[in-house]
Amino acid sequence: MNAFSFYNPVKLIFGKGQLEEIKQELPIYGQKVLVVYGGGSIKKNGLYDEVMDVLKEANLEVFELSGVEPNPRISTVRRGVELCKQENIEMLLAVGGGSVIDCTKLISAGALYDGDAWDFVSRKATPKAALPFGTVLTLAATGSEMNSGSVITNEETQEKYGWGTPLVFPKFSVLDPTYTFSVPLDQTVYGIVDMMSHIFEQYFNNATNTPVQDEMCEGVLRAIMETAPKLLKDLHSYEHRETILFAGTMGLNNFLQMGYRGDWATHNIEHAVSAVYDIPHAGGLAILFPHWMRHNVKVNPERFARLAVYVFGVEPDGKTVEEIALEGIDNLRAYWTSLGAPQTLADYNIDDSNIELMVEKAMVYGPFGNFTALQAEDVRAILKASL
Ligand code: NZQ
Ligand code: ZN
Repeated sequence: MNAFSFYNPVKLIFGKGQLEEIKQELPIYGQKVLVVYGGGSIKKNGLYDEVMDVLKEANLEVFELSGVEPNPRISTVRRGVELCKQENIEMLLAVGGGSVIDCTKLISAGALYDGDAWDFVSRKATPKAALPFGTVLTLAATGSEMNSGSVITNEETQEKYGWGTPLVFPKFSVLDPTYTFSVPLDQTVYGIVDMMSHIFEQYFNNATNTPVQDEMCEGVLRAIMETAPKLLKDLHSYEHRETILFAGTMGLNNFLQMGYRGDWATHNIEHAVSAVYDIPHAGGLAILFPHWMRHNVKVNPERFARLAVYVFGVEPDGKTVEEIALEGIDNLRAYWTSLGAPQTLADYNIDDSNIELMVEKAMVYGPFGNFTALQAEDVRAILKASL
């Protein structure tokens, strides 16, 4: 392992009926709260009313920002920042999936900044302060509810980048599996692909002597893979929703990333793809990740082979390390396809016309990837193989 320090101050409030807890949590930070939500799923499933009732009981003054897009946009962040400044908002409550939470994170930092919030995403400025906020998660996927990262799209310049600061760890996150019952089949699949991808990103690292971390990553992956097909057959199963919700949070709250830096190259390529085409984040990952793996299998075949045997059920006898590794990648592809995840960029009507643009966007900060650094020609090859 490499030397590391670990910090995660998020209070996780997990289980059925836990929404009431926000009556204790929010008033700590003030009186005026901005509730941030998406395109209306919380109005359809009744959560909006429940949240408003609880906020009323807590005697809070409530403001609203609705319409946060999947792949949240800087224009929506700017609307939120303006509202916070105009109304002297003291804290925020994100009610939704990763997009709503990510948008809330940038609003919370932008509200205490004189310039444009995009400066933080484009690395022109570093946040010095942020308004406190909590989250009520409605979709198991990103882990944003328990981390300090955020991914924002600038729709004018077709840029989508991650940014982060410890200042935007949520103060608390309420995770009630029943709020995820209404997540449709396709979004449920995307969430599963996303959380698995987060674990792969962390698993492919260059540290040595990480048996505890390896077993943790493999164990969470196996639990997800066992549960996902059952959940897809029964979207209202409390038990399966609970498992997947918890797995999503564990997948990216940095518990699986102690002692090394994960790779994160596939996420970077996917952000370039969805910056240009506005496709669902995990739809892109489902297409790209097996190709990133095939492209890099020679970097450390033993690592891929271990994953193949421990997670993808490959029988190693009589096979070379590379054969085991490749069979594992094939099994991952087959597994995701069996869940209904997309396989090629053509599934989103993406052809080769913008490959150079996507390469350029992915390479904006130079070669990337901590397991192995990708150059422009690697990104191009992975994108072409994904067509
Ligand atoms: O907008 P509403 O109406 O709420 O509908 C959403 C949206 O259409 C819907 N949904 C959410 N909860 C629901 C529901 N529908 C019915 N019932 C519910 N309970 O699902 C759709 C997708 O929501 P979104 O929040 O976009 O999905 P997700 O949680 O997958 O977030 C994706 C975003 O997070 C970023 C991605 O790049 C993408 O922009 N990521 C953030 C990360 C982070 N902060 O750590 C890491 C990830 O790797 C990822 O990059
Ligand atoms: Zn992701």
